[in-house]
Amino acid sequence: MDLERVEIPSQIAAVAALARETWTQHYVPLIGAAQVEYMLAKFQSAEAIARQIATEGYEYYWAPGAGYLALVPDPVRKSVMLSKIYVLADRRGTGVGRAMVEFAEKRAAELGGAELWLTVNKHNAGSIAFYERMGFRKTEAVVTDIGGGFVMDDWRMAKTV
Ligand SMILES: CC(C)(COP(=O)(O)OP(=O)(O)OC[C@H]1O[C@@H](n2cnc3c(N)ncnc32)[C@H](O)[C@@H]1OP(=O)(O)O)[C@@H](O)C(=O)NCCC(=O)NCCS
Repeated sequence: MDLERVEIPSQIAAVAALARETWTQHYVPLIGAAQVEYMLAKFQSAEAIARQIATEGYEYYWAPGAGYLALVPDPVRKSVMLSKIYVLADRRGTGVGRAMVEFAEKRAAELGGAELWLTVNKHNAGSIAFYERMGFRKTEAVVTDIGGGFVMDDWRMAKTV
């Protein structure tokens, strides 16, 4: 699987469209349509993704027709956040997610990170099982107020790279 670094507006627009497709399909049953719309506008619109890349240190990568991921390095803590990892529904269970995590581990090491970490909704059981299969372990429960009357009720998970 070839992952392309997301840099130019046409790639950013394509990732925003992928985000809308995968988040709507996966998260509406978990957290409801109102919170999904709020989070897509705040975190995964083309404008939000462009700002994250330009000013917040995010690296986005995508495999056209398969999925995308985002990393956020923290040089001080020597850690890298796996901020996003989404595989299109019809490609799940075929090794795309594994290839993306392996890519994230390699890139985290290149960036000087000793730990790769993420947050995952506590009710997102399939994804938690996937992360455990990939060697991540729960480190703590995290509740984050994201405004608009919504909270994210997550596990933090991490693995050494
Ligand atoms: C979670 C997700 C990224 C996994 O990607 P994927 O391409 O389906 O995973 P893979 O096919 O590469 O599976 C990798 C390994 O995890 C295991 N695995 C995948 N999904 C699993 C599940 N639901 N339960 C248990 N194990 C699972 C596979 O059996 C495989 O094991 P193996 O390689 O040792 O045989 C993908 O299913 C997805 O996008 N889900 C919806 C969105 C989401 O929740 N993203 C994470 C947000 S925090």
